[in-house]
Amino acid sequence: MLEILDVHVGYGRTMVLHGVDVHVPTGGVTAVLGHNGAGKTTLLRAAVGLLKPRSGRILLDGEDITRLPTFERVRRGLAYVPQGQQSFGELTARENLQLVADTRKDGAQRMADAMDLFPALAGFLGRRAGLLSGGQRQQLAIARALITGPRVLLLDEPTEGIQPSVVTEIEDAILELTDTGDLSVLLVEQHVGFALGAAERYTVLESGRSATSGAGGEEAEEAVRAAMAV
Ligand SMILES: Nc1ncnc2c1ncn2[C@@H]1O[C@H](COP(=O)(O)OP(=O)(O)OP(=O)(O)O)[C@@H](O)[C@H]1O
Ligand SMILES: [Mg+2]
Repeated sequence: MLEILDVHVGYGRTMVLHGVDVHVPTGGVTAVLGHNGAGKTTLLRAAVGLLKPRSGRILLDGEDITRLPTFERVRRGLAYVPQGQQSFGELTARENLQLVADTRKDGAQRMADAMDLFPALAGFLGRRAGLLSGGQRQQLAIARALITGPRVLLLDEPTEGIQPSVVTEIEDAILELTDTGDLSVLLVEQHVGFALGAAERYTVLESGRSATSGAGGEEAEEAVRAAMAV
C-alpha cells in the first residue's frame, strides 16, 4: 500500500501542493484527477522522490520512504511512467525493454509477461522508439516499467493523445495487472470515464489540494464531473 499523507510540495519558493492525501491500496487502482496545472505530475514526482516534500509523509507498506532517494524507492518497488511516453528514441522498442531486462535475473520472464500483456508490442519491437505512435510508445513505456518488477506503478496520463482503441487496451492491461492482487496503480488522468472505469478510489486535485475523493466506478462520474467543473 502506498500512502501519501498531507504532502506539501513546491518548486523553489512556489508551493504547488498544499496538503494532499492519496491512498493506493495493495492490489488496487487509485485515480488522481484534476485540470491542467492542478499538481498531478508534481504529486507523482514527489511520490517517486524526484521532488522533496516540504512537509508530509509518504509510506510504502507502512515504511516511511519520504526521505529516501529515487533509486531506493525503485528498489523497494515503485515504478514511474512519466507523462509524454518517453523512451530512448534512437533505440528500438526491443532494445528499450532489453535495457531494463538485463538488470534483472528474471528479466527474460518479465519481458515475456510484458509481451503477453501488450500483444501489439510484438508488431513493433524492431522499430526505433522515436518512430512509434503515441499509443505504441505508451505501451512500450508501461511494459518497460513492468519489467522492473514493481509493486506500485505510477502512471501519468497514459491516455493523453491516444486513440480510443489503444485506450481500451491500456485499461484492460491495468485491470489485468491488478487482478492478481500484487500490483497497485496510482493513475493520474484527465479522462474521467477511463479513470473511474479502472479505479476503485479517486481523488480530485484542485489547485494543489485534495478537493473530493471517494469510491470509483461509473456512479462516481457525476460527482467527479461536478468537482472538475468548478
Ligand atoms: N519545474 C517547475 N518549476 C516551477 N513550477 C512548475 C514546474 N513544474 C510545474 N510547475 C508548476 O506547478 C503547477 C502544477 O504543475 P503540474 O505539472 O504538477 O500539473 P499537472 O496537474 O500535472 O498538469 P497537466 O495536466 O497539464 O499535466 C503548475 O502551476 C506548473 O506551472
Ligand atoms: Mg501533468
